[in-house]
Amino acid sequence: MQTRRLCPAIGTEIVGVDLSNPVSDETFEQIRKVWHESNGLVVIRDQKLTEEQQIAFSRKFGKLHTLQGHTVTKYLHPDHPEIYRVSNKVVDGKPQGRKGAGTYWHSDQSYEATPAHASVLYAKEIPPVGGDTIFASTQRAYEALSDTFKAFLLPLKAVHSFANASGGGFRNEVVTKEQLDAAPPSVHPIIRKHAETGKFGVFVNPGFTAYIDGLDPAESRAVLGYLFELVTKPDYQYRHRWSPNDMVIWDNRCTLHYAVMDYDGKGDRLMHRCTVIGETPLPASV
Ligand code: SIN
Repeated sequence: MQTRRLCPAIGTEIVGVDLSNPVSDETFEQIRKVWHESNGLVVIRDQKLTEEQQIAFSRKFGKLHTLQGHTVTKYLHPDHPEIYRVSNKVVDGKPQGRKGAGTYWHSDQSYEATPAHASVLYAKEIPPVGGDTIFASTQRAYEALSDTFKAFLLPLKAVHSFANASGGGFRNEVVTKEQLDAAPPSVHPIIRKHAETGKFGVFVNPGFTAYIDGLDPAESRAVLGYLFELVTKPDYQYRHRWSPNDMVIWDNRCTLHYAVMDYDGKGDRLMHRCTVIGETPLPASV
């Protein structure tokens, strides 16, 4: 296994692994180590994988989310509910996946009590140009804060809401009252301690973070506005230009991502995502 750092802030490419074979525990631990050392982003290209092989590899990270009761349930793979399909393709009038999914900065399912841990995204079809995904390190953002501001943020919690989707995450979707009721907002520490590495990151995102608990609304807007600017700063980013058969694995506990929607009408994009259920976010004090 060889590695190539993609950006100083985040991301490593791994070559010399074939995920279509059962991945040994030893190889998996090596991948996970690189993932943590790269602030939660690994790229593995040229993988020819069946749905079963993607699921088997993803399960090594933990239990998979099947997004039941969610507004995107209809985009799950018909034979493999562990796979959520993101696509602009329509075949015989039937969407092949959620169009425009994640076209705003977010961390997967941060509005849940136990937000996603790893997301494992596999490129099935990619347009000739465009359709990149941008990733940002929230740990690098944390490191940039002054000690005084870190101390101010340390005890604070923010409310994350599915209904918020301020970036338009549920645009063009009919969201029923039952779906909203099934996804009540969650409150999470703003400074999150990573459960495996112990590193601290800024756990807010423009897509789902609605307000800071206990602050006046104007104060909350001002502080979140600054934090959103910080966590989406180009200095902490890597932009992935996809090729078919790329596998990208990100850690939602310490990264944000943004799917760039610049290709519609110019080509088809079809992605298969497995999402691993995470733990209750840890505050920095633990
Ligand atoms: C997502 O999981 O938010 C979608 C990412 C992408 O399609 O690039």
